[in-house]
Amino acid sequence: MTHKLLVGTNTKMYKNIRQTCEYLEKLIDFTADIPNEQLQIFVIPSFTALAEADRIIQGSNLLLGAQNMCWEDEGQFTGEISPLMLKEVGVNIIEIAHSERRHIFHEDDAMANRKVHTALRHGFTPLLCVGETLEDKNAGQSDNVLQTQIKKGLDGISPEEAGHIWIAYEPVWAIGVNGLPASSAYAGEKHQTIRTALTDLFGNQGNAIPILYGGSVNNQNAAELLSMPEINGLFIGRSAWDAENFNAMIRALLPIQQEKPISK
Ligand code: PGA
Repeated sequence: MTHKLLVGTNTKMYKNIRQTCEYLEKLIDFTADIPNEQLQIFVIPSFTALAEADRIIQGSNLLLGAQNMCWEDEGQFTGEISPLMLKEVGVNIIEIAHSERRHIFHEDDAMANRKVHTALRHGFTPLLCVGETLEDKNAGQSDNVLQTQIKKGLDGISPEEAGHIWIAYEPVWAIGVNGLPASSAYAGEKHQTIRTALTDLFGNQGNAIPILYGGSVNNQNAAELLSMPEINGLFIGRSAWDAENFNAMIRALLPIQQEKPISK
């Protein structure tokens, strides 16, 4: 892991093309003075905004992601988006199995696994999202659920491939307007559970996989969360959708990341 601050946002089903472009232009402008060695930002907008977004981010230090992707390259899959189509519009990162995909659209670990394989085959960075529900947590099953999601989601991946993967830990109960942010202690503990699951699968290569925390990250809790040893970055929803606020958060986080010891 490096000293680079890894932060990004998924704009979910918000922001049309114009709003996405305005947001990206501001974000790039506000953060332009921060050296690339210190910061990696990524933005995952709506599909319809990707082509324009790709034009705007040229020459900037911003990576572009897609919120979902089909595991097949082409075929009779009405309503799905092919990895080839995402390549065409300059996407770098594929968000896989976000909590809303799992719970509203019933995506399971097997689908997530197929998408991880496809994303790697096309040279994307798969961002695999995992997280337990409130019921899992109350039943004392959080660790089991996370271990299973990691194991099944990354089934058949080699240690070499694992070096290209990012993980987001997003407890379901912490996400969105009704979410309660996880305490830094709790999140730090679950990141450790995920880290162990990754090193069990990939040996030392499992230490190279960034694990980002997401779920009601805001200006008040971001620094404390990032200061936890196994929290390698932040995946932010609502608090990042205003470019000015996101920039303020990034500025507050940079020194925290710089002070963290470089792990393994
Ligand atoms: P939130 O969203 O920060 O608005 O809770 C997080 C996410 O869904 O990634």
